[in-house]
Amino acid sequence: MIKKTTWLGSQRIDLESCSSTNDEAARLARAGASHGTVVISESQTAGRGRDGRVWRSPPGGLYLSAIVRPPLAIAAVPPMTLAIGIGACDAIRACGVGGVLKWPNDVLVEYEGGAKKLAGVLVESQSQAGRVDAVIVGIGINVSEVGMGEVSTVATNLEREVGEPVERELVIQRLLAHVERWIDRYTAIGLSAVIPAWHERMAHGLVARTTIDGELVIGEVAGLDPDGSLMLRDDQGKVRRIHSGDVEVLRPTAIGSGPVAPANAC
Ligand code: BTN
Repeated sequence: MIKKTTWLGSQRIDLESCSSTNDEAARLARAGASHGTVVISESQTAGRGRDGRVWRSPPGGLYLSAIVRPPLAIAAVPPMTLAIGIGACDAIRACGVGGVLKWPNDVLVEYEGGAKKLAGVLVESQSQAGRVDAVIVGIGINVSEVGMGEVSTVATNLEREVGEPVERELVIQRLLAHVERWIDRYTAIGLSAVIPAWHERMAHGLVARTTIDGELVIGEVAGLDPDGSLMLRDDQGKVRRIHSGDVEVLRPTAIGSGPVAPANAC
């Protein structure tokens, strides 16, 4: 049985198509929509991923954005994305698929020698006079093979993983329940509740690259620091901390190769 949510999904707007559910939710939030309002679309014409990348959004996927108005300081919002990633990962596991997390909050499925992306999270916030007004939590899950096109070699979907058709509404209910649980835990307890849970679900053996003060750093993902930043162990064994943004996580075999893929891809 799926646990009913207390606040997430208290208002629900279902659309056939829109540009981006994050844009719809942001517009509704500015117009005063309440905490827990969710926007779900069958497809998106301009779905977005992190770092301005495209999120391919054909019919057959799940595109959901929630308006969250948490009692948090602005600085406490970025780490909340880790809690949302855990919620998405747990919802996917409840669907019978062994998802794992890639920093900050992608859900992957591991295969021998690599991994494929199943879901991504895009968190955007609105603030006023130094206070958080609304956080827009956008979650995209690849549900079926339909429309995946060329990303199907580097991304996967729920139906491929479970080997049978998946009831989209069940995925939505699970997603809302697990994401609500983890946002509530983060809001009540903070990062000390989130970090061990994130470590339990993290993908192992990933290599990431980033630039720190102009220096290219490539290292193995070693987990999270107590403040939620990513720790990379470079080839000298030195641990480097990444606080935000431009981290490209690679599989060991992918270093230096290939064009930039859409955000749906691993
Ligand atoms: C990423 O992996 O880079 C994040 C992808 C987030 C995609 C979702 S789909 C629902 C919501 N609307 C968007 O335009 N993006 C997010």
